[in-house]
Amino acid sequence: MIKLTIDNISVEVEPGTTILQAARMVGGDVAPPAMCFYTKLKGSGGKCRTCLVEVAKGSTADPRPMPKLVASCRTTVMEGMEVKNITSPKVLDARKGVVEFLLINHPLDCPVCDQAGECHLQDLGYEHGAEATRYEFKRRTFEKHDLGKYIQLHMTRCILCYRCVFTADQVTDKRQHGILSRGDHSEIATYIEKSLDNDFIGNVIDVCPVGALTDRTFRFKNRVWFTKPVEAHRNCDKCCGKVTLWQRGEEVLRVTGRKDQWGEVNEWICNTCRFETKKTSDWTIEGPTKVSRHSVISQGHYETMVKPNETFSAVHGGRNPKLLMDIHSVSEVNTPGVDLSLIQGPATSDDFVTNSKVLNPSKP
Ligand code: SF4
Ligand code: FES
Repeated sequence: MIKLTIDNISVEVEPGTTILQAARMVGGDVAPPAMCFYTKLKGSGGKCRTCLVEVAKGSTADPRPMPKLVASCRTTVMEGMEVKNITSPKVLDARKGVVEFLLINHPLDCPVCDQAGECHLQDLGYEHGAEATRYEFKRRTFEKHDLGKYIQLHMTRCILCYRCVFTADQVTDKRQHGILSRGDHSEIATYIEKSLDNDFIGNVIDVCPVGALTDRTFRFKNRVWFTKPVEAHRNCDKCCGKVTLWQRGEEVLRVTGRKDQWGEVNEWICNTCRFETKKTSDWTIEGPTKVSRHSVISQGHYETMVKPNETFSAVHGGRNPKLLMDIHSVSEVNTPGVDLSLIQGPATSDDFVTNSKVLNPSKP
């Protein structure tokens, strides 16, 4: 075993372990953020530079510090190494610079982006971003593309992390997309607009750290923090059949792979489980997904909910209100007859009750 310290915390790991994996064993803030590395994908990492750390002492045999910050996902540990992550001002400054670079072309459309609430770039921007950009030039933009009937590519949001390319290469039997062109012309593309219809291609949505690849069956259906994630399984002859269902009431709005605390899927799931089995009755529910308190998703998560005291009567000297307005009946948006997961495209007011009549529950 190899002994090293990360942010002054000692840890012992197997030879060949990377600094990032060693830091994840310590856990918490000591683990650097990672936008391109993905444990399950061979060859991933080394692209985004968000995982930079300072190596203040190379090893017991050669105690010289490493001259530059290094990508922790691609640097293996050495005996006696001393690594600094959050204890290094240099690292924090460099990470701020990396975020600024990533945000040069990435639009700040979190209010309408489906990835908001589970976007690694959003977290990174929140933790390390500057208040304003210094970039004054025209930003790179692309048209949106439908990659087959299930996936939409919004290339403008892509940070070129290569995860989806590695996923298609290693999880499906035929990769039909890749990164074309160079420099700021680089883009994820299928070249002649081939649709990606392999059985496991839906996994590119789960690995995309931003909202560049989104699930067309879920786009604009809901904000992730309004949904309730539950663990469920079904007998599937193509994949493990173990998934997370994202429900609103009894309705299944989205199906994804189960993710670990680093946001990486535990097991790949097939397109049938992900896109075609969207009824609660298709699944055996195991129970609520454990969601970190750190995540905005935990706000709709009731596993350990304690019912709060009745605030109104508490502040009103024990008296109940004389009149309460039920905004649900007034706003007309919580119509049980409208199945959000069956609406094609974004839900609009046409999909809800107008003049007490359900107009169009499944818009063409
Ligand atoms: S589309 Fe997403 S997963 Fe693919 S390279 Fe871009 S950011 Fe990475
Ligand atoms: S996670 Fe290490 S360079 Fe991207």
